[in-house]
Amino acid sequence: MLAVVDGPDTADYTDAADYVAHTATLRGVVRQRLVSRALIGHLPPAPARLLDIGGGNGVQALEFARRGYDVTVCEPDPRMLAETRRGLADAPESVRRRVELVRGDGRDAVDLVGTGWDATFCHGVIMFVPEPAPLLHVLVELTRPGGIISVVGKNGPALALRAGLQGRWGDTTALLGEPRSAGAARSAGAAGAAGAAGAAGPGWQPAVQMPPGDDPANVAAILTAAGTRSLAWYGIRTFTDHLGGMPPGPDVDAVVDAEWAAGARDPYRGIARLIHHVHRRTG
Ligand SMILES: C[S@@+](CC[C@H](N)C(=O)[O-])C[C@H]1O[C@@H](n2cnc3c(N)ncnc32)[C@H](O)[C@@H]1O
Repeated sequence: MLAVVDGPDTADYTDAADYVAHTATLRGVVRQRLVSRALIGHLPPAPARLLDIGGGNGVQALEFARRGYDVTVCEPDPRMLAETRRGLADAPESVRRRVELVRGDGRDAVDLVGTGWDATFCHGVIMFVPEPAPLLHVLVELTRPGGIISVVGKNGPALALRAGLQGRWGDTTALLGEPRSAGAARSAGAAGAAGAAGAAGPGWQPAVQMPPGDDPANVAAILTAAGTRSLAWYGIRTFTDHLGGMPPGPDVDAVVDAEWAAGARDPYRGIARLIHHVHRRTG
């Protein structure tokens, strides 16, 4: 269910079991802890009603339920919901009763769970839909005016970094692309100046067309046009993305602190593997 076509890029996981294993790696831990840390700075105080679209195995749901929030997970994959139930079973009753699980596609969530949420999360989901706009529009509709919308997607323009740091030079070159012809470069430059993606720079043609959901500029523009304003954006995994399945070590807190410091500032956040957008609904 999770499979995406990545061309020369490597996929992190292919199914629910694979994703559960990934969340236990250093890369998974860094991702989840950075997302929570960013959100803590933007969410209204608990108790508030949070909705997690594509909540997967429930890592964020459990984290915020432990912090006193009421969290509803809307997730289409029954195996992911089963993993969330497994995690909840080990949690205290006070946490368990704050989490509700709903099976369904995020694009149908208005009918499934209603609107007016204080915050809506959608982390690592837009890479699994062919076109991000319908899902992003639904996230805004689900959220009350003034509420928070939190979206994590791939950083399409920087995907070559993992391959390069892993020494996969053929993949790296393919992901970086080839020089454009002079005419194509001129028109791409004009598009870039108008605010379009500019994925590989005006002079370079990526070997694989960047999916629209992997373009952070496109994601931010769709959210803004739908009636939100950006509060902040963060890079996730600047220093650790190439480390494969390495487990977290005793220095995990120091790693997370370093990643947090890099992910909140230029130029480091611009080359991170994932981009975390935090928006507020304005209307
Ligand atoms: C990579 S996992 C991320 C899980 C979780 N959000 C996290 O950050 O740990 C992607 C999740 O998106 C779910 N998903 C895929 N397509 C979806 C859709 N159209 N609506 C809602 N969830 C979807 C998958 O079933 C999977 O659980």
